[in-house]
Amino acid sequence: MANSAVIYPGSFDPLTLGHANIVERAAELFDRVIVAVAKDSSKTSLFTPEERQRDIAAYFSETKRVEVVLFKGLLVEFATETNVFTLLRGIRTVSDFEYELGMAQSNKELNPRVETIFMATDPAFSFISSTIARQVALLHGDVRKMVPQLIATRLEEKIGLRK
Ligand code: PNS
Repeated sequence: MANSAVIYPGSFDPLTLGHANIVERAAELFDRVIVAVAKDSSKTSLFTPEERQRDIAAYFSETKRVEVVLFKGLLVEFATETNVFTLLRGIRTVSDFEYELGMAQSNKELNPRVETIFMATDPAFSFISSTIARQVALLHGDVRKMVPQLIATRLEEKIGLRK
């Protein structure tokens, strides 16, 4: 694909090894991978959107073709503003697919130019979610098999285990 670009949107609260794997694989397929951190996710968050953007950008600072931005409001509006109409989402399970299909179809309804493509999560990471990583971290469990080391450190700082 010549000058191809894709938006990989999400809450990323926090970035998991599964997310990171999708970004790295997408960077092999597209010239530009825009990791788009949602500013107003309805979910209760641990990290502020700005913290998430900063940490994800730091994690991918050496990875070519990856940029990390914040977006506010509708994803389809962000797609229009950036002139990138391909969205990427990872699928771990069949239940993910049901949710993702609804979201993809809603986005298509909102803007017919938008296409959503799905990438199957590496089975090694299919048990991981941001929600589980947050819960484990809050209960002082070991998250190093769930999130990149940098994010594990940020989680420890956030919950007061590290200065
Ligand atoms: O990581 P998540 O929480 O599954 O990501 C969901 C996200 C942020 C991609 C989705 O909630 C979203 O696109 N939010 C922006 C608002 C929007 O466009 N909503 C309509 C999508 S159907």
